[in-house]
Order: sequence, then C-alpha cells, then structure tokens
Amino acid sequence: MSKSIGVVTGGGDCPGLNTVIRAVAKAAAKRGWECVGIVGGYDGLLEPRQTRPLDYHALSGLLTRGGTILGTASRGKFSAKVGHGESRALPKELLDGVKAGMDALGLFALVAIGGDGSLSIAQQMFEHGVPVVGIPKTIDNDLEGTLFTFGFDSAVSAATDALDRLHTTAESHNRVMVLEVMGRYAGWIALWSGVAGGADVILIPEIPFTYESVCAKIREREQLGRTFTIIIVAEGAREKGGGFVTSGAPTKVGEARLGGIGAVVSVEVEKRTGKESRVCVLGHLQRGGSPTTFDRALCSTFGAEAVELVAAGDFGKMVAFTDDQIGAIKISDAVGRLKTVRPDGNLVRAARALGICLGD
Ligand code: F6P
Repeated sequence: MSKSIGVVTGGGDCPGLNTVIRAVAKAAAKRGWECVGIVGGYDGLLEPRQTRPLDYHALSGLLTRGGTILGTASRGKFSAKVGHGESRALPKELLDGVKAGMDALGLFALVAIGGDGSLSIAQQMFEHGVPVVGIPKTIDNDLEGTLFTFGFDSAVSAATDALDRLHTTAESHNRVMVLEVMGRYAGWIALWSGVAGGADVILIPEIPFTYESVCAKIREREQLGRTFTIIIVAEGAREKGGGFVTSGAPTKVGEARLGGIGAVVSVEVEKRTGKESRVCVLGHLQRGGSPTTFDRALCSTFGAEAVELVAAGDFGKMVAFTDDQIGAIKISDAVGRLKTVRPDGNLVRAARALGICLGD
C-alpha cells in the first residue's frame, strides 16, 4: 500500500492556495506518496470526515486558480486566533480527534497551510504528537520568521493597481482619494503598495498619525500645484492616542473586525482642508483572483520544500523565506507574535526620502 499525506488549509483564503496544494501533491507523487486534501479546514479531519483525492487529474489548472479547492474555515471549532498574535489552547478532545482522523485516513503526515491562527493550531497538534509541517500563508505578511508569506505579493499587486486607477480619477476631479486596504495589525500591504503606487500619504498601524500632519501634506501639494492627493490607509491604522476603528461585532472567538478607518480619514480631511474627498475600500478584492508571478514561484517552492521536510521527518517546522534562501524554522518561532513594520526600517525610510507623508 502506498503512503499518504494530508493537506489542509485554514484561515482566510488568498491567491496561491491552490498553487501550494498543487506543488505539495506533485512533490509527494514524485516520491510515490498519495496526497489527500482535507476539505473545510481542520474540521474535515473530524467525523464526518471530508476529503478529496489530489491525484494527477485533480491538479489540472490549479497553478493559476484563485481561492482554494479544499475550502477553508476561519471560525470553526479550530479557531485559535483571538487577535494581536494571541492564541487559544485547543481542547484535548479536538486534538485527539485529529489524530484519530489521520489514522482513519491512513495519513502519516499533515501539511498545514495557514497564517498565525492556523499554524498555532498546527503547533498544538505537533505538541500533541501529530507529524505536521507548516506553510506560511496570509495576505497580511505578519508572520514571524519569514520575509514573505504567500498571498502578500498578490494583495500588494491588487492594491497597487487600485492606486493607479485612483490616481487618474483623483487628478480629473482635484480630489483627495483615500484607499483602505487590509492587513490587520500590520501595515505591510499599505506600505508596499503605497510606495509602489505613488501614494502621497501612507497610514499604517505601526505609526499612529495626526490629522495635522496629513492635512499639511495635502496643503503642501496644493501649493506646488498638485490639486489632488492619494492617501492609502491600512485597516489597522489609528490616530495618535486613538483606538482601532472596527466594523461590526467581534468574531465568535473575540477577534476585532477591523474596517472603516478610510471613511473616518476621508471625512476628517475634507472637513479640515475643504477639499472634496472620497473613500474606496478595496476589501476582499485583495484576496481574490490568480496569484502573481512571484506568488506562483513562492508557492511552488514552499510546497516542494514542505514535502522535503516530511521526507526528512523534520516535523514541527514551517517553510520560510529567510534572508538568503527558502529554508525552515520551528513553527513555534513563527506564531504567537506578529511581524509588524519597523518604523525605522528600509521601506519606511525610503518612503520618507521620497517625500511620502507617514502621518506622524
Ligand atoms: O488575515 C487576512 C484578512 O484578509 C485581514 O487582512 C482582514 O482583516 C481579514 O482577513 C478579513 O477577514 P474576513 O474574510 O473574515 O472578512
């Protein structure tokens, strides 16, 4: 009988999930292993188990297909994330259920694809004796130990495209255009796309802002004859001394639902400067569609490396893009804290050098 490994995806979807699934299944097949997709997140390992075979035919077209053919769950029994990198301990019965599921399906290892929440579940499973390796996924790029998570580049690309489009309409109408992007408590998406898309103001959670600073930038541009201004604001950005702006009630596991800061900024700058302002919330457009070239290559490499880890019996590890190569780190070194933008880091310094206002 051939050996089998399982692949499971957790948390929010993002471009590249199918690309990773394909890479894992292909690399496993090369070793003569079967690959079983767990449907609907970790819950698919519990009764009634839900799986789908990831054989040769199932992989056709996955390289470029957005979303995940396995479905995902970010709010089910296995929700471990409660915010700011904190996590919740899973009950023993659930962890036992995962082991029982793997035994019933004949899986000798599990490849867990996810962000901080899903990988902290993977870590708990590992500590409970489950042979698991992780692959870092999130558009937020807020996972420690890896320079890049997959999905991030695709989200930045979508946000940059939105900025390009907002530029032309802002210029035509002499308006302030505010683009709100995702990223939770990290400003990576806003910062990278803000620099790439030529934003005039970039507001990120790591650098609390003042309206005086933002409005001074708008006036400075007016004096130079630039009658429009582009502001990109991360959903977790906040005014100095202020709180996070949320939209709706917290999730079932107590995680804040960020959103709405773009509208708040737009109204306030219009009030203070008298300039007409509009807001655009990019939302889940950042998570949909095909992965970029970079993400396709990253996903393919991550998937192949994860199978190498399984082959070496190197469990409890997560593949990672470190300084000079794609390697592996302990999952425990990646979860439970967030990788946020360093206010004195290269990209922030570059933004300031280019005259971009960071709101402080
Ligand atoms: O973590 C990815 C992410 O897209 C965040 O940037 C965002 O805050 C959140 O998920 C949105 O989650 P949901 O899909 O539940 O609205």
